[in-house]
Amino acid sequence: EKQGFRHFMLKEIYEQSSVVRMVLETYISNDWTAASTTSPINLSLPAEFYTDLEQVQIVACGTSWHASLVGKYLLEQLAQIPTQVHYASEFRYAPPPLMPNTLIVGVTQSGETADTLSAIAMDKQRRAEKTPQFRPRLLGITNRMQSSLARLVDYTIDIQAGIEIGVAATKTFIAQLVAFYCLALDLAYRRQTLSATQLEQIIGQLWQLPAQIESILEQQERQIEELAHEFTETQDFIFIGRGINYPIALEGALKLKEISYIHAEGYPAGEMKHGPIALLDAKVPVVAIAMPGSVYEKVLSNVQEAKARDSRLIGVAPMHDEHAKEIFDDTLPVPVVDEILSPILSVIPLQLLAYHIAARRGLDVDQPRNLAKSVTVE
Ligand code: M6R
Repeated sequence: EKQGFRHFMLKEIYEQSSVVRMVLETYISNDWTAASTTSPINLSLPAEFYTDLEQVQIVACGTSWHASLVGKYLLEQLAQIPTQVHYASEFRYAPPPLMPNTLIVGVTQSGETADTLSAIAMDKQRRAEKTPQFRPRLLGITNRMQSSLARLVDYTIDIQAGIEIGVAATKTFIAQLVAFYCLALDLAYRRQTLSATQLEQIIGQLWQLPAQIESILEQQERQIEELAHEFTETQDFIFIGRGINYPIALEGALKLKEISYIHAEGYPAGEMKHGPIALLDAKVPVVAIAMPGSVYEKVLSNVQEAKARDSRLIGVAPMHDEHAKEIFDDTLPVPVVDEILSPILSVIPLQLLAYHIAARRGLDVDQPRNLAKSVTVE
């Protein structure tokens, strides 16, 4: 069943290009142009889903929470809709004040995470007897259409990633991201927050992503496997990113700690100087996501601060970028894409890095200690 791969996790990392293609094929029309008169996105959601929508609140855990942070960025920047992301385990016991015309989104690949289910159930209950403006409007983004979450919510987006066996989520994360692109673009179209030309450009680039994921996997796996050999003694890693790639820094760190048991933390790059920089020395490598766009120069200047502390610098950076090559000790090159789409590519080298460091240490990558695939207790 591993189809020649050493672990399910590696197989699932490789499945990501076809997963992205599948989600795009389901929800986005591939011949849409700025001249078209219908929506480019079809999520099969009824009119009342959109009526008077004022804000979005998302609840999730772990990797799904990271996907939700990217989702917030997309919903706010593309569709101009105020969005909050909550840890499901926190939401339930300190719920935000009840607001009208709010979409609540539960993001869980398994659809069985107890914290997420309880948060959604609590919100549903507290809205039940209220006036129409406050009525529950619950969306589930899940990989399991037969799950408890799917039964609890009013609307669903099926992320269609296929069964994921590795405890560390990879292909379901990518599929959640694509689902958020679809939701944000759908709302952007309806709210007219993007021009037809902007939409056409983003959609055109989305369709390029599967081939770009394949090229990263083809070109980098060997290099990353070799790089992984150099961290056999490393005890701490720092991951930094900004803007839409800040959640990817968090995800890179979570992947590494889950399967390699190395202490790893992700930070928004600009926060390093406010404390975490005290941790840095030659023994603590820093992995920075430096993708072209609004924060590119800022990330590189944050990286210089780490260089001055002798940290080994690993950069997820644009292909053929001489400036990045000079700054980083090692670069993990990814194709240049619009910043807004970059998380789908920048996460791939980080998944491979975590995988190869753990595999090199001889660990049980698919079933790491202390972890379960779905956490069904609160
Ligand atoms: O099934 P869910 O998406 O609700 O799971 C949430 C987390 O438990 C999960 O993402 C966890 O963090 C993974 N092990 C991440 O790799």
